[in-house]
Amino acid sequence: MCGIIGYIGNSDATRVLVDGLYRMEYRGYDSAGIALVTNDGIVLRKVAGQVRDLDHVVSTMTQRSCLGIAHTRWATHGVPNDHNAHPHMDCKGQFAVVHNGIVENYRTLKKFLEERGHTFSSETDSEVIPHLIEEFYTDDLLSAVIKACSYIEGTYGLAIITLRQPDCIVAARMGSPLVIGKGQNEYIVASDLAAIISHTDQVVYLRDGDIAEIAQDKLRIESRQMGTIAPEIQRVTWTLEQIEKSGYAHFMLKEINEQPLVMRDTIRGRLNYDEGIARLNGIADHVEQLRDADRIIIIACGTSWHAALIGEYMIESLAGIPVEVEYGSEFRYRKPVLTKGTVCIAVSQSGETADTLAALREAKRHGIPVLGICNVVGSTIARETDAGIYIHAGPEIGVASTKAFLAQIMTFALLSLLLGRLTHLSLDAGRNIIDAITRIPDQLSDLLQNLPETLIDIAKAFKDHRNFLYLGRGYNFPIALEGALKLKEISYIHAEGYPAAEMKHGPIALIDKNMPVVVIAIKDAIYNKVISNIEEIRTRSGIVIAIGSEGDESLQEFADYTIFVPKTLDHLYPLLTTLPLQLLAYYIADLKGLDVDRPRNLAKSVTVE
Ligand code: G6P
Repeated sequence: MCGIIGYIGNSDATRVLVDGLYRMEYRGYDSAGIALVTNDGIVLRKVAGQVRDLDHVVSTMTQRSCLGIAHTRWATHGVPNDHNAHPHMDCKGQFAVVHNGIVENYRTLKKFLEERGHTFSSETDSEVIPHLIEEFYTDDLLSAVIKACSYIEGTYGLAIITLRQPDCIVAARMGSPLVIGKGQNEYIVASDLAAIISHTDQVVYLRDGDIAEIAQDKLRIESRQMGTIAPEIQRVTWTLEQIEKSGYAHFMLKEINEQPLVMRDTIRGRLNYDEGIARLNGIADHVEQLRDADRIIIIACGTSWHAALIGEYMIESLAGIPVEVEYGSEFRYRKPVLTKGTVCIAVSQSGETADTLAALREAKRHGIPVLGICNVVGSTIARETDAGIYIHAGPEIGVASTKAFLAQIMTFALLSLLLGRLTHLSLDAGRNIIDAITRIPDQLSDLLQNLPETLIDIAKAFKDHRNFLYLGRGYNFPIALEGALKLKEISYIHAEGYPAAEMKHGPIALIDKNMPVVVIAIKDAIYNKVISNIEEIRTRSGIVIAIGSEGDESLQEFADYTIFVPKTLDHLYPLLTTLPLQLLAYYIADLKGLDVDRPRNLAKSVTVE
């Protein structure tokens, strides 16, 4: 949730660290801080607020340093204020620590440390860490951190500096991502590639249980399981341009506009027209296991969970394999019946979501094969699954997921095509799907050209409403859920998504002349049923904003506002109907003057339970 970064090299550490924080700000943005090793001791600056507030503070600093750590916070324990901001220090100001994660046993540790004379200055769980290190330090930071970590229950990504050894950073990982970038005579350690990529494309991903000692010219990694291990350097292919705004007002808008390109990347090299099938090399060794599965369980959270629901509908209808979709957070704590013949698929943009990760570990403990559908290459979920499919959406920075959602749906379209062809689908049906899939990127481009004007008008008309209802059926029911989620995430307007026919079992009581209802009413197999639902809304004076299929002029008779998307196959419509809902949420939030990319209380990557 939080972003952490450390730097050691020849450059001005303050600049490298603050620039890195800007790039990771989407991970948390309620307070920020920096600690530098200088000739005057460890210099610490912390502010409640955003990275730009910290930037303002450090711009007046006279001290210079080539060694430091910094943090941008998403509060879990202790309100966001200057005291609770990281870095945290020990009693004598000799050790500074930035932490991402939660120390679950911090109360016990704090009591133990207080009994030994330590005094605390924040309400955070994290502050026990510098005090533990102070307690255990004799002459070697690495050894002290190894010992401190053995006392911590919970999750951590840590970067630590000390005055006693002003030539190294120690970093440790357990459950919170950490990457080390290797430059020319410099290293940067961060919770995110975004903070590293402008310096180097050579990186080492730490694994859970790894503790690294990083000197300017040397990297040593101690693994809890394997002792000293050789750093495995990998090359990153994401470019800096991909993670910058490229002239858009917000990352979210940029990412929405990238979707045609993303669709091309997701399908590139994966369609075989001759055989009417998709090729997914990442899971090539597991395709038969999936085809013959008694049941597939898809595990996910948030927007990825909505994509998983669409995946369920697609796989069941194209391949006839039973599918269940589970929230990671529920799956891990109930007692799921995991029989032989079950295959799990974990879906996660970041590949770091704690609940999804814990659920997949639970499935593995039962001996169930687990595959992954992830965006971030080298992420924990990508590494811990038996095999997987990368969605190739590129870095997603806006907290509200957009392009990754579409790429996840497209990935399920490919997977269901593959499984469908191995079970029920004819060659012609497979080719028909491939034709429709290859038209999607251009159809999205056309929509991006044509939609904004109408959607800005609708956004202006409804930005001050307090409630919205979103309805859809079949493949578009999860899109109603996602449309409502997008709106509430970034505009703070209460919105609910419902299967259209379920409306009459409750939500219909809310409908009056002030209730805008967004209905996805495309010309699919259940179109007439949805029109009946629209009638029910109109009879009660509700306002209907309908998303329909191109050419369905008659829809205008039923709706106050209509938005049309091009025709496609029923199961691919979600790839098109999502776009107007993303834009509607974006324009409403923007017109309300809200911070679209950093909605309050949310975080991009939820690495805590
Ligand atoms: C957070 C984000 C959501 C995301 C969810 C799951 O809540 O704000 O946008 O859908 O986590 O994240 P994942 O990375 O696992 O897809």
